Amino acid sequence: MDFTNLGKAGLKVSKLCLGTMIFGSTVNETESISIIHRAIDDGINFIDTANGYNNGLTERIVGKALEGRRNQVVLATKVNAAMSPGPNGGGLSRYHIFNEVENSLKRLQTDHIDLYMLHRPDPSTPLEESIRALSDLVTQGKVRYIGMSNHPAWQVCSAIWISELKNLATVVCVQDMYNIVNRDIEVDLLPFCQSYGIGVMAYSPLARGIMTGKYLPNQPIPEDSRAARGDQRILESEMREDSFNVAKEILEISSTLGRSVSQIALNWVLRNSLITSAVIGPRTIQQYEDNLESLDWELDLNVLDKIDSLVPPGEHTGSGYNDPLNTVKGRVISPSSTT
Ligand SMILES: NC(=O)c1ccc[n+]([C@@H]2O[C@H](COP(=O)([O-])OP(=O)(O)OC[C@H]3O[C@@H](n4cnc5c(N)ncnc54)[C@H](OP(=O)(O)O)[C@@H]3O)[C@@H](O)[C@H]2O)c1
Repeated sequence: MDFTNLGKAGLKVSKLCLGTMIFGSTVNETESISIIHRAIDDGINFIDTANGYNNGLTERIVGKALEGRRNQVVLATKVNAAMSPGPNGGGLSRYHIFNEVENSLKRLQTDHIDLYMLHRPDPSTPLEESIRALSDLVTQGKVRYIGMSNHPAWQVCSAIWISELKNLATVVCVQDMYNIVNRDIEVDLLPFCQSYGIGVMAYSPLARGIMTGKYLPNQPIPEDSRAARGDQRILESEMREDSFNVAKEILEISSTLGRSVSQIALNWVLRNSLITSAVIGPRTIQQYEDNLESLDWELDLNVLDKIDSLVPPGEHTGSGYNDPLNTVKGRVISPSSTT
């Protein structure tokens, strides 16, 4: 297993990070624990979860799986989700962050979180309040490193300057969606992270399953897939005909390369030297094993060029699809320009 520094931090993390979002919902506890143990046995040392996943159940399962193995992993979790009713039951206020870190520590059965991330922006809370709260948790030893997820580059930049000016713990990494059919972060966030030495965790590297080749143009949605189970996020944002066409093209390449579509898609994400780690979300051990096969080889430049012709750098598929970050086109850093 290859390890990389998480941004400028000394912390070393594996190129694949095991995501746990569906552990406790689609994946039952026993199977979830098997996948976590298998990943650790294979040398994956990076595990991503969040307090909001299945209303805390996922963190409990992760905590159980890590009994006796806690020191083998870099454990990342996140805060913002509404965990209880009332005006302070969610968000990024000092009040909620301080309450929720205690709940996460209990659920995860640990006395510290290695990487604690703001899950998404909270426009109702000043950024300085959230960063100061995270920084205080670092001082208290409850958190070791801090990060941000789903924030535009300018907000991450603001956070870094708040830390600099106020002598607070600083953000070492971001976590954002990145895959062949959603290349938006190449425009602004990736160049920013390169310039500031921020690590990048790429989530949904298979576009929630689209980049496996299981959804194809004019074909019915396969049974036993995330879309067939009615998962709102894939149905609302990823079921784009243009993405299915891209998957079909990659499927054609896959037979000549002797690699699965998902292996090509994951390898493509990791081929970008600015991506620290791809956060995978396997539902079964078989999918996990397939995902693992994305390591230790490299896509040729002609395949990268082909992919650029299907989805140009900095773009996403689907003309009617609104980029959630509303990025403004500018400098672009993609696998083909960083290798
Ligand atoms: N920070 C955030 O806001 C945020 C948001 C989303 C995710 N995340 C993190 O990122 C992790 C991964 O996200 P994701 O689950 O969307 O990742 P993904 O890798 O894009 O999609 C994973 C899904 O693709 C399908 N799949 C994977 N390998 C396959 C294979 N070999 N063959 C066929 N199908 C395969 C499975 O769905 P089927 O059910 O269709 O088989 C699987 O659950 C999450 O667990 C979470 O930790 C973070």
